[in-house]
Amino acid sequence: MRHLISIADLTNAEIEEIFALADDAEKLRKEKPARDCIMATLFYEPSTRTRLSFESAMHRLGGGVISCADMRTSSAAKGESLADTAKVVSSYADVLVARHHWDGAVRAMAEHADVPAVNAGDGRHEHPTQTLCDLYTLRKEKGQLKGLTVVVCGDLKNGRTIHSLVYALARFGANVVTLAAAGMELPHYVVERMESEYGYSLSPLVANELSAVVTETDALYLTPKQPHQLALFTQLDRAIQLRLGTIASQLCYDAFYMTRKQKERIKEGAAAGNYPTLGDDFLRATRFKDTVVMHPLPRVDELSPELDRDKRGIYFKQAAYGVPVRMALLKFLFDQAEVGLRQPAAPSSLYRSPESLGPHCINPNCVTVTETASAQRRYEILSGGPGAALILSCVYCDHRFKVQFVGDVQAKRYCAYDISLRATVGEWLAKNELAVFNSIKEAEEAGYEPYKTSGQRVVMTDGEIQAAVTVMSSEILNECQDTDGLLLLGIRTQGSVLAQRIAAELERQNTRKYEVGEIDIYGSDEEIRRISLADPDAGPLNLRDREIVLVDDVIYTGRTIKDALSIIFRAARPRMVRLAVLIDRGHREIPVKPNFVGKHIPSSERERVRVRLRGREPGVKDEALIYSITSPSANASSLRSRKNAGQTQAAEG
Ligand code: CP
Repeated sequence: MRHLISIADLTNAEIEEIFALADDAEKLRKEKPARDCIMATLFYEPSTRTRLSFESAMHRLGGGVISCADMRTSSAAKGESLADTAKVVSSYADVLVARHHWDGAVRAMAEHADVPAVNAGDGRHEHPTQTLCDLYTLRKEKGQLKGLTVVVCGDLKNGRTIHSLVYALARFGANVVTLAAAGMELPHYVVERMESEYGYSLSPLVANELSAVVTETDALYLTPKQPHQLALFTQLDRAIQLRLGTIASQLCYDAFYMTRKQKERIKEGAAAGNYPTLGDDFLRATRFKDTVVMHPLPRVDELSPELDRDKRGIYFKQAAYGVPVRMALLKFLFDQAEVGLRQPAAPSSLYRSPESLGPHCINPNCVTVTETASAQRRYEILSGGPGAALILSCVYCDHRFKVQFVGDVQAKRYCAYDISLRATVGEWLAKNELAVFNSIKEAEEAGYEPYKTSGQRVVMTDGEIQAAVTVMSSEILNECQDTDGLLLLGIRTQGSVLAQRIAAELERQNTRKYEVGEIDIYGSDEEIRRISLADPDAGPLNLRDREIVLVDDVIYTGRTIKDALSIIFRAARPRMVRLAVLIDRGHREIPVKPNFVGKHIPSSERERVRVRLRGREPGVKDEALIYSITSPSANASSLRSRKNAGQTQAAEG
């Protein structure tokens, strides 16, 4: 039995197979391969195209359709869970097609269904069957997908069609240019996956003609196997600007994929700025004479009505392909059920906590948070995140977060995760003894005690930290050209505290207030947020053309900084980004050089440098500590032997 929840559930060859079936939709219509089959449509959110084209497709295959006109009048209104609904309805139908407002809801339904389930859109997550229609349309229009350059435009944060589409374009070797509305950039977890799974890199693109024909917005370029390493530069100098300008001028844009603002997923009052539109300038520009315009629809006012009469506007054709493509998909799924093919195996690095507490997915709209009865929290473990962090990726919604605390279930001990624990954590995972906690409180509530550390010494005292902040602040004032427009961005969490300290010191030295923001590399939908108000009525943080000082407590491999820079450049093109760190440990993997350093402390990989700052932890004074972690596995086995010895003594006694 095969489900289609994510576009990743289909291989490229299977997508081609579905397209071949769609090309022959007339034959399917005559053969009626779904005679005696029933499809159930369960739409918890409004739909015109997806629902009706699925229902039309099933009728044309000779099958029947059962549905609930409005899920608010189904037993969901009485509190029935997604799991129970899926279980019950799958005994009435041969395939379920479901849409839901929660990310991961359709995966949860598929896990309880006895027939194939198809994701017709889940929250902000994915819309894989729309992507099948999009790829099919592009291939029909352009002959092939490899090498095409597609500009995705508008609400890239909340638009689920975009997320499935960019993964698929990457898999078929197309280039992706992103033109996001302000505050609606492609989520970090999507870009991370483009980089880690598909080998794409992300660069800001100086593409003035794109901004001119759309609206004031910055372009970013996702491209395979090309050495665009802009994220590694902390300064956007003229040479880089020129190089990016050259890239932009050589690009041939094959398609614009426009999307509407997903109002239903945006908090009232948020992101109220300008929204990109495609209008007459686009139609007149010779540069775009062969650029087709696509849109998953419904549209609101992003597209000029003139486009409807222009052969480049192909969005109604794209919607019409919904029927043959979904006929082909249904035929494909029924065939798979007949030959007994199963869903590809789940990744071997899957983690399910043996403890009932953490960790929790960081996405508040994830089904594991909104309906725990239907979805058991599971994560894929991704090692080698920023700063060699241990990253968990939620199986339901793909959101990623950094593991803060790990523990051994047998020893009931925990400690903060660090690169030196990689092998030990691997052993615990293999033995199903790994516990992961979002906080110390969570670990303590589960009855865990901390592991002891050894050889701890202070490498920076309270006074030294204050002196370093003072020196770095005056260096910042000396080096920055536009100190009035300076923005301090701290990397959460210690970097944010330091950024606020530097802002206070700058204010003392220069008698004016400075804006401070925070970057959350893993852990939030809102990747950049304001943390101090220069002006109480100020809107979202503006990064464009600003001089930015990025602040963190410790730099080691440089990967955290690279990620923070990617987030900054995705949000806007600043004039310059400089880097301030309290402690530079060396061991760099990424060639990033801080502009301002409090202290250089070369140290071994097994040593951990920890900065403790007042205000973050109660009763703590500022200090930087260096220490080794006594091997938790040795600690665990000695604890176990002590426990066993105790049991033997008790038995002997
Ligand atoms: N493209 C799309 O999903 O349209 P509907 O919301 O009308 O199904």
